[in-house]
Amino acid sequence: MLRLHYNLEKVSMGLVVAIIVAASIGGIVEIAPLFTIDETVEIPEDMRPHTPLELAGREIYIREGCYACHSQMVRSLADELDRYGPYSLAAESAYDHPMLWGSKRTGPDLARLGEKYSDDWHTAHLIDPRSVVPASIMPAYPWLMRPLDTEILSDQLAVLATLGVPYGPEMIEAAVADALGQSQPDTDGGDAVRERYGEGVPVRAFDGDPSRLTEMDAVVAYLQALGTLTNAPYATTVELTQ
Ligand code: HEC
Repeated sequence: MLRLHYNLEKVSMGLVVAIIVAASIGGIVEIAPLFTIDETVEIPEDMRPHTPLELAGREIYIREGCYACHSQMVRSLADELDRYGPYSLAAESAYDHPMLWGSKRTGPDLARLGEKYSDDWHTAHLIDPRSVVPASIMPAYPWLMRPLDTEILSDQLAVLATLGVPYGPEMIEAAVADALGQSQPDTDGGDAVRERYGEGVPVRAFDGDPSRLTEMDAVVAYLQALGTLTNAPYATTVELTQ
């Protein structure tokens, strides 16, 4: 084997071809499974897409670089299951463009974060992490209390619809109204969001004040939705342990 390599190194074209062959094996192993992704990644029946408000929060999450410190993928290792809950399924991120799995964890994984803390906790934590977690090294994001810009929200839904996210024309049309509605409990707008996205969608004044729509509303709505779009991961784990 060494002898073969020694001789190959003396024939530059042969070496180039051999390098290409060796490198493409790695490429094929990574790329080939993607051709069957439609059959292998089955979207659970109960899965819903993000509401417009959650989507706006996701965009802010990306803008602020939260993903640089937080992954959103629970691995199938015992200590991760103990700490975070059921491991992540590929289907859970099928509507995420781009997905935010990540591997860098300066802070904890957030894939199972939804409804773990109250909205008040999240708002206080984002304005000043040290006010609720004294030893926290997370940066503060006080500017999230500014008004949410909803101008491109409908267009965002429309673009995602072209990528296969199930946003119908009515959802696209009502995106701005739905973003507002989800932050105003006990209003027609709030009911409309539930009608379009499902009864389980939380309709709350996420930043504590229903009279204004802030970036905080959007980010907290997004954080509270993490891991709650489908029940499938919980169902799968039950099957495995039986
Ligand atoms: C520089 C790294 C860093 C960045 C950037 C960062 N975080 Fe954190 N985050 C942490 C650390 C460390 C913790 C653990 C301490 C704490 O709870 O404050 C944490 C904790 C959290 C928690 C509590 C998780 C739990 O299960 O207890 C949430 C929620 C959170 N971060 C959201 C965010 C959001 C949203 C952003 C972006 C606006 C963000 N983080 C940006 C480092 C970071």
